[in-house]
Amino acid sequence: MKITVVGAGAVGCLFACQLQEAGHQVHLWTRRTPVTSLSFTALTEQETTYTFASNDPQALTASEMVLICVKAFQVNAAISAIRHYLNAHAIVVVSHNGMGTTADLLQALPHHPLLFATTSQGALKPQQAKIIHTGQGPTFLGALNTAGEQPQLAALFHQATGHCEWQADIHAKLWQKLAINCAINPLTALEQVANGELAASQYRGQLIALCEEIASVMDKEGYPTSVESLMTTVLSVIKATAANYSSMNRDIHHHRQTEIDYISGYLIQCAHQHALSVPNNKALWRAIKQREQV
Ligand code: PAF
Repeated sequence: MKITVVGAGAVGCLFACQLQEAGHQVHLWTRRTPVTSLSFTALTEQETTYTFASNDPQALTASEMVLICVKAFQVNAAISAIRHYLNAHAIVVVSHNGMGTTADLLQALPHHPLLFATTSQGALKPQQAKIIHTGQGPTFLGALNTAGEQPQLAALFHQATGHCEWQADIHAKLWQKLAINCAINPLTALEQVANGELAASQYRGQLIALCEEIASVMDKEGYPTSVESLMTTVLSVIKATAANYSSMNRDIHHHRQTEIDYISGYLIQCAHQHALSVPNNKALWRAIKQREQV
């Protein structure tokens, strides 16, 4: 398949290398300097160099699938930059942490098959042309509109990126991931600690309070869960990614804008619509907004 990957961050580069390795024709579209070659370190520590066509409008127009891997707050700008080049049948798959971009996507690209991919694969990009695969986790793919109901695409991702499952309701998976991100990301960013530190007893009360608020919002959104089940998931991610620094931790560390408005901010927005109070999540949202100014 002819595929354009928009965004050359860690996840975009990881998908680009995996799809190219699986035999697809991958073209990269980036805001900054075009990326033409990437040194990829696999989980086996084997290193391979992949070369790509980059920032070529003709290649973008020829793409059958466009995979948008930018931060949630960059989605609108990315769509505006590429939409006039897209061919009418191009399948658009979006992948980012957090929620809250769907309405804008549906409005901007009403006639394209639209899908969302949420992944727990881990990748690090220590340098511009270097990408390291740090963890294998499942990817879930699902439709955002009727034209996006293309379950066969899960097989394409499964073959290229490791375990990928089709989801009849992708929002169920997005809420699960949002819960994990609301609990782990702001705390690890404010404390500047690795994910594993949150297993310490000093954080237990705060994690439970966050999960109670998240469960109450999920319930009203039609995705009922229990505090116990959320805590089990959050603690297992903390354990599985103990040595990792969360994406928000890295954003604060490098004085970059974070995805807080699409993580805790999205939860707060939904809570507000249901007249629910989420003071613990709000306090973390406010603290991160303050730290972003520093
Ligand atoms: O944003 C992140 O860093 C990741 O989604 C997660 C799961 C919190 C692991 O670091």
